[in-house]
Amino acid sequence: MSAVTLAININKRTDDKPVDMGLILGSGLSGLMDLIDDATAVPYDELPGFPHAGVSGHSPNLVIGTMEGVNVAVFGGRSHYYEHGKADAMRVPLETLKALGAKAVCVTNSAGSLREDLPPGSQMLITDHLNLSGTSPLIGEPGDARFVDMVDCYDPELVAAARRGAAEIGVDLKDGVYAWLSGPAFETPAEIRMLKTLGADTVGMSTVPEVILARFLGLKTVGFSNVTNMAAGMSATAITHAQTKEWAAKSAAQFQALIKAFLRQL
Ligand code: HPA
Repeated sequence: MSAVTLAININKRTDDKPVDMGLILGSGLSGLMDLIDDATAVPYDELPGFPHAGVSGHSPNLVIGTMEGVNVAVFGGRSHYYEHGKADAMRVPLETLKALGAKAVCVTNSAGSLREDLPPGSQMLITDHLNLSGTSPLIGEPGDARFVDMVDCYDPELVAAARRGAAEIGVDLKDGVYAWLSGPAFETPAEIRMLKTLGADTVGMSTVPEVILARFLGLKTVGFSNVTNMAAGMSATAITHAQTKEWAAKSAAQFQALIKAFLRQL
């Protein structure tokens, strides 16, 4: 089913609610879905081309409504490259978001931190990224549009709005670079030392393919990492997905406040 048909079907369900911004929620961050006003949920199962399998800590629904007065389409779950080896797994959802009328997408993730001043429970504003996966969601895409300009792919105006929002609620939001590795194994300590040398501040297994696709589709992007652990070799605590979900829950209140404060600045 084409993205336009999906958007028409979604519009029927929502009585044509407008959509200005998409919001993709990372592992353990789906609590934000409870804060959507005038919400209509459409399960991914009813949307061909949307991810079905899923990872624990995600909620596979698209919820359309408003948050802080902004018309949002919130993706409660995403598909990761490591689930199936397809880097373009979020293409249909992003195309649908565009067909719904959105101009921008906010991507969020749970991530490991490479910086002592970004401890678990803190958030980072993604100002650039490193694609270290060795792949791209645009491999096989025909035509010259595939040569996407990635300078300022984290939109300077949206980044500025995020900084203003953080200042408004007194959150010390640091800028940083997010590194995408395929996973699903976590990194080795040697890989983390390499990433530090390369200039990474957080590391994770998502987000970057969505940002590449969003830029390809002409959607502006902004992104946040929610730190759930210090990266491999940086702390005595073992890194587990359970820990990711635990810290995502502990920091949910501040993460949600930050996203709402950002939306108020738009
Ligand atoms: N590495 C990769 N992905 C992650 C991590 C990590 O340390 N924490 C949460 N997602």
